Amino acid sequence: MSRMIQIFDTTLRDGEQSPGASMNVEEKLSIARQLARLGVDIIEAGFAYSSPGDFEAVRTIANEIEGPTICSLARAKPADIDSAWEALKGGAKVRIHTFISTSDIHLKHQFRLTREEALKRAVEMVSHARGYVEDVEFSPMDATRSDETYLCEVLEAVIAAGAKTVNIPDTVGYAIPQDFGRLIEAIRKRVPNIDQSVISVHCHNDLGLAVANSIAAILAGAGQVECTINGIGERAGNASLEEVVMALRTRKDLFGADTKINTEEITKASRLVSKITGMMVQPNKAIVGANAFAHESGIHQDGLLKEKMTYEIMRPESVGAGKTHIVLGKHSGRHAFKKRLEEMGYHPNEAELDQAFERLKRLADQKKEIFEEDLETIITEEMDRPSETYKLIAIHVESGSEVTPTATVEMSIGETVRKMVGKGDGPVDAVYRTIAAITQTKSRLLSYNVKGITGGTDALGEVSVSIEEEGKTAMGHGADTDIIIASARAYLNALNKLAARAARGGKTEPKVGLI
Ligand code: KIV
Ligand code: ZN
Repeated sequence: MSRMIQIFDTTLRDGEQSPGASMNVEEKLSIARQLARLGVDIIEAGFAYSSPGDFEAVRTIANEIEGPTICSLARAKPADIDSAWEALKGGAKVRIHTFISTSDIHLKHQFRLTREEALKRAVEMVSHARGYVEDVEFSPMDATRSDETYLCEVLEAVIAAGAKTVNIPDTVGYAIPQDFGRLIEAIRKRVPNIDQSVISVHCHNDLGLAVANSIAAILAGAGQVECTINGIGERAGNASLEEVVMALRTRKDLFGADTKINTEEITKASRLVSKITGMMVQPNKAIVGANAFAHESGIHQDGLLKEKMTYEIMRPESVGAGKTHIVLGKHSGRHAFKKRLEEMGYHPNEAELDQAFERLKRLADQKKEIFEEDLETIITEEMDRPSETYKLIAIHVESGSEVTPTATVEMSIGETVRKMVGKGDGPVDAVYRTIAAITQTKSRLLSYNVKGITGGTDALGEVSVSIEEEGKTAMGHGADTDIIIASARAYLNALNKLAARAARGGKTEPKVGLI
């Protein structure tokens, strides 16, 4: 049986403390609705005393959201606690979360209080909050830089005053997992009445250890984790909810602990928070990054296509992220390419597949991202390729405002290789004239069209031409990131079709131009 860990989400309070992430009441309410769908146990909706907007957000969320407990933060001051209660009082399940620092650094330099004064204030304010509500949480701020004996004294006193949850904040992200786990164990041993309270942890990510510290604390007996969606929060952020939850779910065998989070709602929550706060999620972010379930390496793709467990420790569907994404790129394998083409409805033969795969690799060297449209273009060209009489070997074009466009084209015609230089009114014209000279075609160019298939300056450009010879027309298509090469391919594709037709009709041999 797994121990159930309470998830205390503070996206709307500590998360909002991320620079530039402030949210209005409507925005907070829509995130709170998603947090309720996600199944968090507690929503810290704001810091009621801090501003009229926060007060209104706490009040609205407490009144409208069903399911989770709604909490407001309050400094250890009567006015803060009164304001938190005013905002919360209409709610069905509410909590006041009050805090004061316990580290000498904070007490001396910021609060200007002695340890005794801070302890007295903490006890008085927990009692004050308990006058309003049973569910009171207390945080000794900067706990991880506090004297352990004093910290334990404060915890014992606030629990005696009625705190149902004692939260251990690593306010400045100073802890490391081993030490933090040991601190939680020490608290369990040294605070005599600790059983009357849930131990919570609240880790900041200044050293990138917020999730690891939270997990270490759970292993040491913590029963609540404070976290935020996408790990947003003050400075480097807070422990990320999705990472803590999925670590527990994925390694239930090891931790013997789980949460009641409905993980299929994670991706939606992540996207909503990102959209509302304007804070982008880095692509390689665990669980919710765009690449979290994307595989590019051919070896991984091959394994995945055989059995998902080979390279996936959790299913994307389990966090609502859709399906595993096989990214076709320069590291992809033939197996994944073939599978994707089949999904798109193409069943190329081995030779077509080889040709198309080679082109995919060349394209991936030139282009950052391969889109489905790119694949479509490559495969239709390869499957629709007539037997190739004319093959392009190399092109070099010189053009610009000061020079006459000049093309050097090298191609094979059957077994013969030919190279020729020609001029034209523009680079494409120079290439077309040179190809016409090499092939000695009598065809006329009827139309020439170019379009970008995908966005960006590295887009694959597609050229379509139609040509006519002795009353017979042929269409040709060519695609490449270089529009001149795409143009040459399109022209040769059309010439090859005419040649193939002539061959089927038992007519003309391919022509070879003179050098
Ligand atoms: O980081 C912190 O110490 C806090 C407290 C208010 C819990 O956010
Ligand atoms: Zn914090």
